Amino acid sequence: MESPCLLAFCLLAPLWAQGINLSQGEAGLPASPLVLYPWRQRAGPSRVKRAWVIPPISVSENHKRIPHLLVQIKSDKQLPGGVIYSIKGPGVDEEPLGIFSIDKFSGKVFLNTMLDREKNDRFRLRAFALDLGGATLEDPTDLEIVVVDQNDNRPLFQQEIFTGHVVEGAVPGTYVLKAEATDADDPDTDNAALRYSILEQGSAGLFSVNETTGEIRTVQVGLDREVVSVYNLTLQVADMSGDGLTTPATAMIYVDDINDNPPEFTKPEFSVEVLENTSGVDIGRLLVHDKDLPGSPNWLARFTILEGDPDGAFAIRTDPHTNDGVLSVVKALDHEGRDHFTLTVSVQNQNQLHPSAPQTTRALAMVQVQVRDVNEAPFFRENPRLASVVEGAPPGTELTTFSASDPDTRQPQALSYSLAYDPADWLLLDPRSGRGAYDLNQLRNPDFFPPPCPRGKQPIRRDAPYSYATPPYPRKLPASPSDIEDFINEAPGEKTEPGPG
Ligand SMILES: *[C@@H]1O[C@H](CO)[C@@H](O)[C@H](O)[C@H]1NC(C)=O
Ligand SMILES: *[C@@H]1O[C@H](CO)[C@@H](O)[C@H](O)[C@H]1NC(C)=O
Ligand SMILES: *[C@@H]1O[C@H](CO)[C@@H](O)[C@H](O)[C@H]1NC(C)=O
Ligand SMILES: *[C@@H]1O[C@H](CO)[C@@H](O)[C@H](O)[C@H]1NC(C)=O
Repeated sequence: MESPCLLAFCLLAPLWAQGINLSQGEAGLPASPLVLYPWRQRAGPSRVKRAWVIPPISVSENHKRIPHLLVQIKSDKQLPGGVIYSIKGPGVDEEPLGIFSIDKFSGKVFLNTMLDREKNDRFRLRAFALDLGGATLEDPTDLEIVVVDQNDNRPLFQQEIFTGHVVEGAVPGTYVLKAEATDADDPDTDNAALRYSILEQGSAGLFSVNETTGEIRTVQVGLDREVVSVYNLTLQVADMSGDGLTTPATAMIYVDDINDNPPEFTKPEFSVEVLENTSGVDIGRLLVHDKDLPGSPNWLARFTILEGDPDGAFAIRTDPHTNDGVLSVVKALDHEGRDHFTLTVSVQNQNQLHPSAPQTTRALAMVQVQVRDVNEAPFFRENPRLASVVEGAPPGTELTTFSASDPDTRQPQALSYSLAYDPADWLLLDPRSGRGAYDLNQLRNPDFFPPPCPRGKQPIRRDAPYSYATPPYPRKLPASPSDIEDFINEAPGEKTEPGPG
């Protein structure tokens, strides 16, 4: 019988050519069960590979009405007892077991479970035709079953949050990041044809996404970290070329700083004071503003004293936390020598300024430094001062005049002299003139010096070894200057002297 053969061949041929649509109906069902004669092609004049000539059988994944008749295979062999059909292979008697089965008398192949293309997208079975005794009637042949994709997988972004960086001032078209998604559905179908979009990015609309690649680029000028430092974009990916299932994601885009803002002094002039004769101390802070990223070299200020400090008496450093210029005095100043300095200080960043940075007039500041007077101690011009007295000189003989100077020449201050150490109490010193005199008989010559203060209450150094706790008077005074040594050596307290009573 030649004509049925030709007819079947003619019916199948266009289907093979068009990519196999056999059982893919509305619900994945064939309009009518297809009958396949897998062994007929062997009758052809040329031997063709069976795997290629038997059309694959398509079945949709997720098909719910089971068992579902896929195909009926038939042999042309006519036997009195009929032909016995069987299938083998993965999906039948090999893992995954039992997906397909065959009615051995009719040759009807059934699908027994719901299929998932994302697990198995095709099955290759071996089909057998036997006689009742089990002898092979035909050579085993391949039956290919193709699982047709459904859009049962949502596209998935590879990350929930994408992060990217772009420098401020970037030109339009600058690449920022790529938001990639995957879809488990058949990549050859629309079910996995993904399209990317930006759902939300704030008012400015500075970014765009390539709908097929997910690349995000800038589309406008105007990225300014000092205005907006981070953008939060809501992305979406959709399959079915944009009309199918969707998934959102976030893209955080950080705007990286450039040095497009110069540091500026907060005012054109600062005033500080410094005490004379001090060094190594901070005397004031010069405040600056810089809008660039705090802590970065685009923000950190560097100060230079340009003028007004010929001797290098001042230094200036940056407080890294506040960016203030900390002015200090490194060489002691002398109020009497110079009581005022006018410094010119400049400020720059550690990094070079970007050409786009605006000009500023606040890169220089004047610093008025007032040198304050401190009450400096007077000093003896000659120290120690040696004086001599002739033996036998009468009490009241003037010995020498002490002369001290006060460095505070601009504030007239009275100097006052006093004896710090005179355990025997035999010298007199005029507190105003510094005149010192031998005064053994001071009691007998009370008019030589006006007494500076009552006897025994003379100002005296605390560390003087002499104690006034028990006044040593009256004591026998030395009769002449040559006895003075003995008198001194008789330190009161070491002697058992009767008290004054
Ligand atoms: C394949 O199946 C689809 C429906 O799933 C149908 O629209 C199309 O026309 C079929 N193609 C052929 C060649 O039968
Ligand atoms: C998106 O990217 C593809 C591949 O790089 C490119 O061919 C296409 O021109 C891009 N589309 C747009 C709108 O830039
Ligand atoms: C981004 O914006 C969305 C909504 O505007 C918000 O829910 C989300 O928390 C933001 N993400 C971050 C990291 O700020
Ligand atoms: C300056 O200060 C030092 C101590 O810092 C002091 O010893 C010195 O006497 C002072 N000089 C004057 C002139 O006051």
